[in-house]
Amino acid sequence: MVLPIYLYGHPVLRTETKTVTPDFPDLDKLIQNMKETMYATDGIGIAAPQVGVSARLVYIDVDVLKDDLPELAGVNIVLINPEITVDESVEPVTREEGCLSIPDIHENVKRYERIHIRYADENWVIHEKDIEGYLARVIQHECDHLNKTLFTDHVEGYRKVMIRNKLLNIAKGKIDCKYRVKTAPKLHRK
Ligand code: NI
Repeated sequence: MVLPIYLYGHPVLRTETKTVTPDFPDLDKLIQNMKETMYATDGIGIAAPQVGVSARLVYIDVDVLKDDLPELAGVNIVLINPEITVDESVEPVTREEGCLSIPDIHENVKRYERIHIRYADENWVIHEKDIEGYLARVIQHECDHLNKTLFTDHVEGYRKVMIRNKLLNIAKGKIDCKYRVKTAPKLHRK
């Protein structure tokens, strides 16, 4: 089932997420719904808070980028309770990002190029991997969602000023979106 995407300004995107346990109700269904939602919205990654669930769960499928980045062919992963450590010895790289929760805004974000990640997959098998390049970026973006952080929080200087009104409009629900969304309840709009 395709779920609505919770947009910038909705408090669920700024809510503490809970560790997922094997007894999490209908976990398989949630993962399936997140996959369907991500494909329906042409995303390459989705975190549970973006469908209104405060849980440490992410789905990523970067196969669509394979023409430019052949190493991403066939790469899709469910990340349950991911833990990241970044390699600060490698110079961070700046690239453009976007987010299903922040439609029509694309900005440069500096990210670490190499990370180490530990996570459980949907069968509760634990994985530990070193990942670099674009996939490391996508994982950092999605894991930020689990820590109440959005990519626009990393935007600095005049670009931050430039996007301010756009962000306010999204938070006020003044946004046309191709997919079904949930905007912030009026109480939280400012
Ligand atoms: Ni995002």
